[in-house]
Amino acid sequence: MLYKFLLPGITFVLTLVFGFWLSHVGKPYNGLLFNIHKLIALGAVVVTVIQLIKFLKGVDALAFIIVLLVVAALCVIALFASGALMSMDKLDYALMLTIHRVAPVVLVIAMVIIMLNLKGV
Ligand code: HEM
Repeated sequence: MLYKFLLPGITFVLTLVFGFWLSHVGKPYNGLLFNIHKLIALGAVVVTVIQLIKFLKGVDALAFIIVLLVVAALCVIALFASGALMSMDKLDYALMLTIHRVAPVVLVIAMVIIMLNLKGV
């Protein structure tokens, strides 16, 4: 089961690495790093959703997992929205950065609980 989430895990870690690198280089953002960070993030979402769909097919008690999936989805939306807004210098930068830093933590917690509940399926 765990190895099936290897690719989602690797792409997520790469997203974090390029995120911290992008942050470290600072504003104005390096276009290449920004696009790599954004595209790997998109790739991570796609491969994770593909794997989740495969596992969710066999699950009976979906309610709890669905709540966590909604939390995870909200985190992803928050990440894409705050990332885009930071790059466009829209709204409050400090608030967007805080959202962009907190959302990955909540996302990881939700995903770990989801995977623990899928285990053995
Ligand atoms: C799964 C999705 C994503 C994750 C987990 C993620 C994670 C991160 C992390 C950990 C940082 C470093 C923050 C820090 O310095 O503490 C970062 C920086 C950044 N990310 Fe993302 N990110 C994601 C998606 C995106 C997307 C889609 C965009 C653009 C549309 C984006 C734009 C940015 C920008 C502009 C920064 C630099 C912030 C700054 O320090 O000024 N991110 N990201």
